[in-house]
Amino acid sequence: MDAIKLRRSIRKFDLSKKIPYDTLVELCKYASYAPTARRQIDKEYIIIDSEEVINKMKDLPHGTLKYEDCNTYIALVAKDPNSLTIPGMEPIDLGMAAENILIKACDLGFGSCYLGVYPSEERMKSFNELLGVNNNDFVFGIIALGYPKEEFREWDKFDPNTIHHNKY
Ligand SMILES: Cc1cc2nc3c(=O)[nH]c(=O)nc-3n(C[C@H](O)[C@H](O)[C@H](O)COP(=O)(O)O)c2cc1C
Repeated sequence: MDAIKLRRSIRKFDLSKKIPYDTLVELCKYASYAPTARRQIDKEYIIIDSEEVINKMKDLPHGTLKYEDCNTYIALVAKDPNSLTIPGMEPIDLGMAAENILIKACDLGFGSCYLGVYPSEERMKSFNELLGVNNNDFVFGIIALGYPKEEFREWDKFDPNTIHHNKY
């Protein structure tokens, strides 16, 4: 199974089952294997599987997926840019880390959907407050995870016209 090609955003989950905590830690471990500028440690993870916390997320700004439609999340937290040797790389570093989680989750048969927080000031503020993130660290993005109630399928997004050879 090619998890890179089969991965798709899953927004319907079987809420009667929960991904074990150890598996979620394993997914965070995969994220930490992603490349980072100068190997700096610029992120942390919040595993969210508490009904109480997810209930509070219901009222926060959201996109297509409603927070109550999933029972498990990993929030990616970007460290204070002032504490880094090369600030400004967080969108790249955390984006790469997020992709590792999405791909590994698919590889294990779990559904996932990346939910953008950064760069929306409104979403960052509300997630920082809810999850107790402070000191200039900030919630960068949230990944919904669970047992999928939608099929994985390959959706050919590749357009050969996007490939250039030696010149644009
Ligand atoms: C930066 C970013 C922010 C996103 N935010 C949301 C979101 O708030 N809600 C949501 O349901 N999906 C969100 N998505 C998922 C995209 O809608 C999805 O990746 C896109 O439609 C392509 O579909 P696919 O993931 O199935 O290939 C986001 C994806 C990215 C990369």
